[in-house]
Amino acid sequence: MARDTWDPTHLPDLHGRRYLVTGSNAGLGFFASLQLAGAGARVIMTGRNPNRLAAARAALLRQVPDADLESLMLDTSNLGSIRAAAATARGRTGLDGVLLNAGIVHPPAQRQTTSDRHELVFATNVLGHYALAGEMLPPLAAARGRMVWLGSMSTSMWQYDPLDPELENGYTPWRAYVQSKVAATALGFEADRRLRSEKVPVASLVAHPGYSIGGRTRGIAGVNEPNRAKRFRDNLQAPIAQSKERGAWVLVRALVDPAAEGGQFWGPSRGMRGAPRPASASKVTRDLDVAARMWHYCEHATRVPWPFEKARKAKRR
Ligand SMILES: NC(=O)c1ccc[n+]([C@@H]2O[C@H](COP(=O)([O-])OP(=O)(O)OC[C@H]3O[C@@H](n4cnc5c(N)ncnc54)[C@H](OP(=O)(O)O)[C@@H]3O)[C@@H](O)[C@H]2O)c1
Repeated sequence: MARDTWDPTHLPDLHGRRYLVTGSNAGLGFFASLQLAGAGARVIMTGRNPNRLAAARAALLRQVPDADLESLMLDTSNLGSIRAAAATARGRTGLDGVLLNAGIVHPPAQRQTTSDRHELVFATNVLGHYALAGEMLPPLAAARGRMVWLGSMSTSMWQYDPLDPELENGYTPWRAYVQSKVAATALGFEADRRLRSEKVPVASLVAHPGYSIGGRTRGIAGVNEPNRAKRFRDNLQAPIAQSKERGAWVLVRALVDPAAEGGQFWGPSRGMRGAPRPASASKVTRDLDVAARMWHYCEHATRVPWPFEKARKAKRR
């Protein structure tokens, strides 16, 4: 096998490229935005809270003063917000990639629903990204772009089949989280199969960041400000954890490495931490029936059938 020469700290020149990142005001989304912007890309930073988004934009500009940024309000739990943001983001110049990153990582103790009447975790982590990726398909096709979905190692340890995706029965916070990641991963692979069979020139990949925690991440005002207790707790996990900055390396590589391919799963080399490498996805996320069922469910729940034909005809940028 050829030696892997990818260096996450020296990305290829991304001037002239345009990427959209969900949940870019904090955590992995912020660091992915920072790395993309640092390599010269135009980054559409999105978030659901204007103050947090403005703070993250200011923090990024402090690190990369000539960063080329757009800011856009986008709440992934709200289908109206997604439609509005997508209409703004489509633009005329095409989109090289969308990072479907935003997520509820610590779900509420009790089941909650959104204004669209969907279970909150599934709406935020899955339905919103399914709808957004569909809305952005024509500009992605125009740029021969990519979408990257966020998976998680938890789906290898708890191989939940999302038979009841919105957990009408038996809600637990952990089950809601893991199921949402099983669904997002299965959809990422299913999207790639459908894009290929529909001959749409867009690739879909899935990436997971291992175990990336705020207390192992450098402090950035307005973005990552762990208190002393969190630093202490997270430092105790040093052997198995990494910073969110490093976790973002995987997502960015899946998004921009010319050698990465649709349908692949990427993760850190040592599972929970390490340099980005192709990884093995859990069996349930590769199950074709689970994926087809999730696709059907999302299509009906969001009323966003993906515009494959329109995307196929999109003029190359
Ligand atoms: N960290 C890990 O070890 C790990 C492991 C596996 C997978 N992941 C996945 O990686 C992704 C990011 O995780 P993280 O560790 O960076 O988490 P994080 O630090 O909690 O950041 C989550 C981001 O998502 C945003 N978000 C949450 N709900 C949203 C909504 N309704 N609309 C728009 N944005 C929303 C948050 O914005 P607010 O500030 O407004 O809440 C924040 O920007 C998630 O999909 C997670 O499942 C993380």
